[in-house]
Amino acid sequence: MSPGEIVNDLSLPVQIPESQQTAANVQHSALFSLSDKLIVTTGGGRGLGIALAAAILEAGGHVVCLDILKVPDTEQWATLQKIAKRSNLECSYRECDITNEETLEKIMDEIDKDAQRVGTQFYGVVACAGIQQKLLAVDYPQADFERIQRVNVTGTFLTAKHTARILIRNGVRGSIVLIASMSGQIANRGLSCSAYNTSKAAVQQMGRSLAQEWGQYGIRVNTLSPGYIRTAMTDELLAAAPELEKIWMAGALLGRLGAPEDFKAPAIFLLSAGSSFMTGADLRVDGGHCASA
Ligand SMILES: NC(=O)c1ccc[n+]([C@@H]2O[C@H](COP(=O)([O-])OP(=O)(O)OC[C@H]3O[C@@H](n4cnc5c(N)ncnc54)[C@H](O)[C@@H]3O)[C@@H](O)[C@H]2O)c1
Repeated sequence: MSPGEIVNDLSLPVQIPESQQTAANVQHSALFSLSDKLIVTTGGGRGLGIALAAAILEAGGHVVCLDILKVPDTEQWATLQKIAKRSNLECSYRECDITNEETLEKIMDEIDKDAQRVGTQFYGVVACAGIQQKLLAVDYPQADFERIQRVNVTGTFLTAKHTARILIRNGVRGSIVLIASMSGQIANRGLSCSAYNTSKAAVQQMGRSLAQEWGQYGIRVNTLSPGYIRTAMTDELLAAAPELEKIWMAGALLGRLGAPEDFKAPAIFLLSAGSSFMTGADLRVDGGHCASA
């Protein structure tokens, strides 16, 4: 076997160019660049996902947003299009349910083929799609508990799986970022979300397990665990129980809840060469919430 060659489970020998192997020769200014790279973002129809899609464009990458929504949020999508046009980058949207493996695989393969046609590298994913539900554990219906795991755990796994298959096939040492939550490590005071919290702990363990398997291909897998962010997801929780805001603010060491934009730099760091020696890690960004009891 020649240096740099690896044989993968798909039985395709791939040659890893030396330039892709470390950040050693990367200038500081390029450490956070996603230039010539294409990143898929699930949950990219609104909220955190669409904010991270904007960050990918700002870092010079092309982006494809996948979401179960028929169309993305109109205002945010218009902003995204403006950034893409200004920088001559591709930004597209596909309706996709991440729990439907057949459809997901087909869409991911089409995205890869399109990227190859225009000479762009399919480089990674931000798996951001997720759902939440507040219900007392003693009343939690089995079907609801399973629905949360199906989207947050199985859907995230399938997203990572089909990204890794493309990266391995193409010999690309890419990056996979799974959006977990601080709720994977702590139980939120006043918030009865046992199914969600269980699913986010699973995502964190999934990240470590996949990193263990795919490090041999140079594919990095990390989780990003946000604290409270003002999005449609939390607006819904706060509308049902306004007293929660006071509890959340009591743990906010910086005196505020997060905004989707607070996660742009952490996500770009995990995707780009700046974190090239980082895999199997969890990056918690929570405004200090978990630091104090
Ligand atoms: N908002 C917070 O405080 C917070 C905190 C920690 C972690 N998170 C995580 O961040 C991610 C984004 O959350 P958000 O706050 O932007 O919520 P959001 O509800 O605004 O966005 C989630 C997106 O996922 C999409 N989605 C749901 N099911 C899907 C499916 N089966 N296939 C494809 N897309 C699907 C939704 O349509 C939506 O656009 C989630 O994984 C969430 O758990 C959020």
